[in-house]
Amino acid sequence: MEMKIYYGKINFVVYFVNSSLHTSPVCLDNFTSLRPSTSRNVLALQQQPRIVLSMLRTHTCGELCAKNCDSQVTLCGWVHRRRDHGGLIFIDLRDRYGFTQIVFSPDQKKLFTAAENVRLEWVLKINGMVRKRVKGAEREDNPTGNIEVLVSSIDVLNESKTPPFEVDQEKEINEEIRLEYRYLDLRRERMKKNIIMRHEIVRIIREYFSKNNFLEIETPILIKGTPEGSREYLVPSRLYHGAFYVLPQSPQQLKQLLMIGGFDRYFQVARCFRDEDQRGDRQPEFTQFEIEMSFAEQEDVIQIMEGCFIAFTKKICPGKRMPDLPFPRMTYRDALERYGSDKPDLRFGLEFIDVSEIATTCGFKVFADAVARGGVVKALRVPKGERFSRKDIDDCTDLAERHGAKGLAWVQIGEDSGPVAKNAGTEFLQKLQEVTHAENGDLLFFAAGPYPHALVPLGHVRNAVAAMLNMIDTSIWKYVWIVDFPMFEKNADAQVVAVHHPFTRPHPEDEELFLKDPLAARAVAYDLVLNGVEIGGGSMRIHERDLQKKVFDVLQITDEDAERRFGHMLKAFEYGAPPHGGIAMGLDRVCMLFADEPNIREVIAFPKDQKAKDLMLGAPSPIDEKLLKELGVRVVV
Ligand code: AMO
Ligand code: AMP
Repeated sequence: MEMKIYYGKINFVVYFVNSSLHTSPVCLDNFTSLRPSTSRNVLALQQQPRIVLSMLRTHTCGELCAKNCDSQVTLCGWVHRRRDHGGLIFIDLRDRYGFTQIVFSPDQKKLFTAAENVRLEWVLKINGMVRKRVKGAEREDNPTGNIEVLVSSIDVLNESKTPPFEVDQEKEINEEIRLEYRYLDLRRERMKKNIIMRHEIVRIIREYFSKNNFLEIETPILIKGTPEGSREYLVPSRLYHGAFYVLPQSPQQLKQLLMIGGFDRYFQVARCFRDEDQRGDRQPEFTQFEIEMSFAEQEDVIQIMEGCFIAFTKKICPGKRMPDLPFPRMTYRDALERYGSDKPDLRFGLEFIDVSEIATTCGFKVFADAVARGGVVKALRVPKGERFSRKDIDDCTDLAERHGAKGLAWVQIGEDSGPVAKNAGTEFLQKLQEVTHAENGDLLFFAAGPYPHALVPLGHVRNAVAAMLNMIDTSIWKYVWIVDFPMFEKNADAQVVAVHHPFTRPHPEDEELFLKDPLAARAVAYDLVLNGVEIGGGSMRIHERDLQKKVFDVLQITDEDAERRFGHMLKAFEYGAPPHGGIAMGLDRVCMLFADEPNIREVIAFPKDQKAKDLMLGAPSPIDEKLLKELGVRVVV
């Protein structure tokens, strides 16, 4: 329903949307598609404002067209380009909505002189008459490309120093400079598109989950430590010297407590903080969109989330083929055995081939020993690997070693060169060719050792080989759910730790096993992977105090320690905790993939750099001695 309210001179249009609660597990919205895009879909998301308050301007720089000809308008914006042409001065005036060409004629001397003086990125307010452009000067690629505004007055609202880089051009600029002057970088087309797209994704999230009966509930930022593996940011308490709040790594425990509080479907677009080493797809603070559901099973969580990605695809990339539902599922074990990764990129093949059986008698000690010790030997067949130079092979070996491999054996089929040919008999080479179907010219790389550790480095080599051979079809999107993660693993200090977090439910078939052989037990935990990027993870949770205690026992958390760290959870479990589970998606990573960007900094308005610094604000920074004293904190450098 639409209703117009007239309030003084300002004309508001208020939209009412019929709301109703849906009880079906997944309600797929019949979203109307946005305008089809030009080059990148997200541009289509720029809509004209519904409520234009005619104060400094009558129109935006993106909305005038032929039907506005002969009307007087006022525009505000930045000087994007300036051209002096045969006595006329043309300026492209830019705002968030687009560009409008404004024209200064030499007949009006004062105005013309003013226009001669303006520089790039100055902020102008102009008044003028809309007119058709002369024949041949129209620009089809710009929605305002048929008109121009002949200026009758100009106000310089603000001047600008010469920017450190051109806002006008999309050429590569040193990232440090971009981050230091992020407010200028945000004026550029690339960032503008990404920020608008991110807004749109968040809007879809809110719309989609609300329609599916989820409630958005905020959880606190100053909390007690959540034990999820990475280091926490600490906030010293002024009132209780020596005591600290921590910033949440995720709202994990709070969303579980909300389930105990009876809110059976919760979602949040939540800020998370993790003090960990930075990478392209990691930031010290990032955003999750995350849900928790009571009286639900893994399949409910998975289906709800799949529906959300369908909604994104419909709206953000209307031209794109819808992903098939359900998304494929693969067990963690399968993913490692076949691709050497728990986030396999399925846009290309290069599946590992198990050669353990024939390796036992091959004569090559590295292989035979691996199998004798209960490990595996896997081959990665690189079709036409003869294109690989010795240096390419060395690069792959370095990569494998950086990821913990003892080496990277290889053989060039046909030429029988490489360490395997040197060490193993010809009979093995023949068998290898049979098992792997390798042809002359193909290259085989090998991983030998214990499962799963030996396979992970070969997984990295697989990705590198695909990139080197241009095998990745970037036009397709491959989703896959990785299910049945192990419940526990050993960390670098040989301690048994939770793979996901300690509230994760054991697999129903492994409820006995996890006590006897923790490392062999599976959890009801799942990750969603898109094009080789882990975009989300979740699990069914423990809701029984006794079971939770048993898990703490396996993790060697004493009763005393459990009480001190998780007493609140154990206590809550005693008051009718319902069965529940959920998932959290990395919003930044999802936006990165939908925007086709190489890292998440490109989809965050004000990111930290790769060393966790904010180059624009200059954070982190030293704090006044007086403040530290109030907090009871002494700095030891
Ligand atoms: P997890 O730790 O797997 O699960 O995080 C969920 C998702 O968040 C994203 N993510 C990150 N994105 C950017 N920078 C980071 N530093 C970063 N760390 C994680 C990833 C990841 O898949 N509480 C559980 C979820 C649950 O069980 O419901 C959790 O936080 O895309
Ligand atoms: P070595 O006998 O240690 O000199 O190794 C012979 C070849 O096997 C070298 O090319 C190594 O890179 C390779 N290699 C060693 N360990 C492994 C392993 N665990 N998996 C695969 N290749 C290996």
